[in-house]
Amino acid sequence: MTAHAAGDPQATGTPPPATGAPAPAAPATGGPDTPAYPVGLRLSGRRTVVVGGGQVAQRRLPALVAAGARVTLISPSATPSVEAMAEAGEITWHRRRYQDGDLADTWYALIASSDLAANEAASAEAERTRTWCVRSDDAEAATAWTPATGRSDGVTVAILTGHDPRRSAAVRDAVVEGLRDGSLAAPRHRAAGDGTPRVSLVGGGPGDPDLITVRGRRLLAEADVVIADRLGPRDLLDELPPHVEVIDAAKIPYGRFMAQEAINQALIDHAKQGKAVVRLKGGDPFVFGRGMEEAQALAAEGIPCTIVPGISSTISVPGAAGIPVTHRGVAHEFTVVSGHVAPDDPRSLVDWEALARLRGTLVLLMAVERIAPIAEALVAHGRSPETPVAIIQEGTMATQRRVDATLATVGATAKAENVRPPAVIVIGDVVAVNAGPVVPSTEQPTA
Ligand SMILES: C[S@@+](CC[C@H](N)C(=O)[O-])C[C@H]1O[C@@H](n2cnc3c(N)ncnc32)[C@H](O)[C@@H]1O
Repeated sequence: MTAHAAGDPQATGTPPPATGAPAPAAPATGGPDTPAYPVGLRLSGRRTVVVGGGQVAQRRLPALVAAGARVTLISPSATPSVEAMAEAGEITWHRRRYQDGDLADTWYALIASSDLAANEAASAEAERTRTWCVRSDDAEAATAWTPATGRSDGVTVAILTGHDPRRSAAVRDAVVEGLRDGSLAAPRHRAAGDGTPRVSLVGGGPGDPDLITVRGRRLLAEADVVIADRLGPRDLLDELPPHVEVIDAAKIPYGRFMAQEAINQALIDHAKQGKAVVRLKGGDPFVFGRGMEEAQALAAEGIPCTIVPGISSTISVPGAAGIPVTHRGVAHEFTVVSGHVAPDDPRSLVDWEALARLRGTLVLLMAVERIAPIAEALVAHGRSPETPVAIIQEGTMATQRRVDATLATVGATAKAENVRPPAVIVIGDVVAVNAGPVVPSTEQPTA
């Protein structure tokens, strides 16, 4: 890229004048409508000089460091973030004004100080030494322009629009957003039927389709087969193209144990056909989600899988109902417990006596049917019957509702209010912490 390179015909045989010599007349750079020639600089290990340690440097330095550039900063002062990078050894900082000769052996320069005379002088040296140079104060005088850049899953998007940086940023945002959420269909190239099994266990979040991760959404957009749970962002299934095979895991027959085996087998069979398989699960795959059982079943067949964490209902559903699972001065811990078997059930692995002694928050999943005996056990082992309790049914969905009670009343209240799964039950003083009316997560507050 740089004409400083020995192999560059313009640089060969035209040695730069001695340092300090007057700058030769700058060649015409063309007007703003002359398009820049796009290129990707490979700066790893190459000297790069940044003049000025302000906001521009702060924004650009992380990408330069990430590209492996050997960055020297020349500036009498710097923002705290830039200073921190120097202290961490990521860049070398000379705390002084620019001096002629600072660009010696430099491949690329970013001139971004508030000292206009220094900018002019550095720019002149860059011209003289054939160093590609970006200027934050004078795009016309620059020999290089910084595109608006973004990254998504190994793809770098770089947009140049000449004189309209806001439009560059807007186009960049649109492309990156589209790649991330899968709405810009750009699947990775895979040879059809190349036989490479690809399975992703994707945590889909609690149900609101906006609450899946960008990675999960993208993998969904790239899937050939989706095996979906009853819980999770089922609305997203409607958006899948017609060629995608959607298997409803909730409808797989047999008892619970057999159903899991059937799901495992479906994952294996489709993966072995070389298809991109997404196992879409509610919340996070590893929170009462049997995600590891599926990963183990795949591993036993030599099929690798990608785990994509999800927003678990354990925290997000209380949050959507305005309940923080921790709050300063109120609860310093929260414990997530499955209530799928009653406290006196011999299969129970939960020490309810120990839980009753805790002062923090208890978050119960799968506990609607057994909340009465659970509340009784907690009170019997010492938790106050006045402890506030909230049940949040169908959290983050349009049908979300919250029912409040205490440990003494929750069994009867759940019955009287006809509470149905899925629901998260929160027990503890955090339930009474109030921030005023909560905007449901399905509604966006208007500015
Ligand atoms: C088998 S567990 C799966 C939990 C999931 N892996 C997670 O991280 O959220 C299912 C239980 O999660 C809770 N749950 C999941 N989504 C919910 C939602 N949107 N509203 C209320 N509870 C939910 C309910 O307690 C439900 O019975």
